[in-house]
Formats: sequence, structure tokens, C-alpha cells
Amino acid sequence: MFTGLITNNGNKPEYAIEVNGLSKNFGPLQAVLNVSFRVPAGSIFGLLGPNGSGKSTIIRMLCGLMHPSAGNGQVLGLDIVTKAEKIKASIGYMSQKFSLYEDLTVAENLHFFGNIYGLNKPEIIRRCQELYQKMRLEGVERQLAGTLSGGWKQRLALACAFIHQPRMLVLDEPTAGVDPVSRRLLWDLLGELSTDGITILVTTHYLDEAQHCHVVALMNRGFLYAFGPPGQLAAEEGLGSLEDVFIKMASRGGD
Ligand SMILES: Nc1ncnc2c1ncn2[C@@H]1O[C@H](COP(=O)(O)OP(=O)(O)OP(=O)(O)O)[C@@H](O)[C@H]1O
Ligand SMILES: [Mg+2]
Repeated sequence: MFTGLITNNGNKPEYAIEVNGLSKNFGPLQAVLNVSFRVPAGSIFGLLGPNGSGKSTIIRMLCGLMHPSAGNGQVLGLDIVTKAEKIKASIGYMSQKFSLYEDLTVAENLHFFGNIYGLNKPEIIRRCQELYQKMRLEGVERQLAGTLSGGWKQRLALACAFIHQPRMLVLDEPTAGVDPVSRRLLWDLLGELSTDGITILVTTHYLDEAQHCHVVALMNRGFLYAFGPPGQLAAEEGLGSLEDVFIKMASRGGD
């Protein structure tokens, strides 16, 4: 569970994510520019920013799917370049266009992802039973994923990403395009996972969702504009709300 700075050995802070001077260029385009931050283990970390601000690019570098152009980083103590394969096996990743198999049932999707992550059949069956309950998927086990409504699909995608019990979940816009009730349920689930000690990195366009995060980063055009507990950021900028910070950030277009 997030308790500010979680300590290891009584004194050393333990960070689930650490990046220093992280940058990514696509030809002349600087998608991520000299970004540095540290995220305490067990926290919900929200990466916020408008379209094209570099959120997914940061996620891809942290998940070992893309090498940085400059800078370095660690996820769960693993180097994002040299230990990329180990990171991929240690985290659960839900991409922005999450990939469920629509012509498979809910149970079959979970079995498929369990197999990919190397779980054996008894483990998959045990995890499915836990996840139906934990992710509020009871009653739809035999329904085709393609026939589920948005919120249910999102929870199934979350369950698939969590089938191998990773210590960290990386969710790229998990609440995009779902109704407010489903969004709220998803945030409740993320809160429960954080209480269990899982670190959660989540991107969102919805500023009101920052309230569910312990730490947020505001990105704009590749720059890290602000980082910290959401309640502190507005106060530090001398503004009334995170929305005001965001508008100020967007109008400056990065520093
Ligand atoms: N593989 C790529 N090749 C070239 N340019 C890319 C590539 N991936 C991303 N970009 C560009 O990098 C910038 C940052 O993109 P990114 O997808 O990280 O933004 P984002 O904050 O996730 O946006 P969104 O909110 O729309 O998902 C954008 O200008 C995008 O067009
Ligand atoms: Mg994105």
C-alpha cells in the first residue's frame, strides 16, 4: 500500500520507477525530452497530458518495448534497456488499443493470456476464479468478449494483464471511452490493487481522475511540466485547481 515513501531496510526509499533524462526522438520530432522522476512502490502514478504529449512513448520505453534516444531508467529495479525482457515478464501491460480476442469467451481470453505468461493449467484455473471475483466479471465467463459492453471489456483487459500476478500494472488510457459508472468502478479496482501493494502506472485525459492518483506527472509536448501529489501541484503553481495548471501548461506549450 502507498504510504508516501515506502522504505526498504528501514531507511532506503524504494521506487518502482526511476527515470533520469529520458528522451526519445522520432527523426526530427522530440517526443519525450529530458524527463526525470521517481515513483514510490505501491503507488498509483498518473501520467496526464494532451494528445501527442509523449505519454505512450514513455510507457513503451518503461515497458522495454522501445529504447530511449538518451537517458536511462529502471522499472522494479530493472534497467529498461538491458533488462527489457525481464521487465516484460514482471509487469502487466494494457495497451491503449487493448487487445482482447473478441471471438473468444471471457474465460478463453484469460486462459490465452495465462498461457502466454507461462502459467500452467491449474494455476490458470485458480487465477480465473480469483479474477472473476476481483475484477467483477462474475456471470459473463462464457460470454464472447466481443459482445461485452465497454466497461466489461476494460475489466477483462485488466484481468488479462493481471493474470500472472505482476507487481506492477501499466495501463494506457484504460478509462477512455467508457461511461462514468464503469470509469469509477475501474478506479475502485485500481485502488484495491494498490492497497495490495501493486504499483500502477496509468495514463488518462480526464483531469478529474487525477484525484485517484497518489502521484501525477503533467506532460506537454514531450516535457514534464509538473510532478507530485495532485493536491500539491496546484498549490505550488499558485492556482486553484489541477485544471488551471493544465491550461497554463498547454498555453505555454512546454518550457
Ligand atoms: N513510432 C512513432 N514514429 C513517429 N512518431 C511517433 C511514433 N510514436 C509516437 N510518435 C509521435 O510522438 C509524439 C508523442 O506521441 P505519444 O503517442 O507518446 O503521445 P500520447 O501522449 O500518448 O498521445 P495520446 O493522448 O493521443 O495517446 C506524437 O507527436 C506522435 O505522433
Ligand atoms: Mg497515447
